[in-house]
Amino acid sequence: MNLYLPEKINVQGEEFRVYLTQEEIQQKIQHIGQTLSRKFMDKRPIFIGVLNGSYIFLADLMRFVSIPCEVDFLKLSSYGDEKVSSGQVHDLKQIDADIKDRHVIIVEDIVDTGLSMKYLVDKLKQHEPASLTVVTLLHKAEATKHEVQIDYAAFKIPNLFVLGYGLDFAQEGRNLGQIYIQIKKDED
Ligand code: IMP
Repeated sequence: MNLYLPEKINVQGEEFRVYLTQEEIQQKIQHIGQTLSRKFMDKRPIFIGVLNGSYIFLADLMRFVSIPCEVDFLKLSSYGDEKVSSGQVHDLKQIDADIKDRHVIIVEDIVDTGLSMKYLVDKLKQHEPASLTVVTLLHKAEATKHEVQIDYAAFKIPNLFVLGYGLDFAQEGRNLGQIYIQIKKDED
């Protein structure tokens, strides 16, 4: 596979460098996929990907899930095209599945302030799932202000903007094959 893996990239005038390689990401995802497969064996869980950012993570995670399961998607918006959260979450697409009494696994790209995840967990709990598990690829632990449930975080990262592997900056960068982090001005 010929992935798009530059050493550095400029997006909208901001410089980014490689932070997590494809190998590091795949290794963690394999571990999480195998763990979830053991935990939810015979439970037919439903994975809910949070669009848009989680689509590549979810696709790769599913390749390591070796039990019967379902997949659905929802879409939230809080950032628009900015690098900081607007502080408000909107539903842009709801799930189609009925999750009452189902084992639900939320798959998110990144938990930053925690606002979106808190909103989502509170909302899905109202539908009375049998269990609710939160999986995120990235967690900006220092930036998380809201008390939020996170069961599996593949990587804890510093409070800097990242892109690639599904995550965007103003809709650019999702097709990068690994995770890039913003270069601080004094780092050049
Ligand atoms: P939160 O509600 O502040 O936790 O933000 C969650 C959402 O903001 C994520 O699902 C992403 O879509 C977006 N986001 C937060 N930090 C970043 C980042 O560093 N790069 C790209 N998107 C981000």
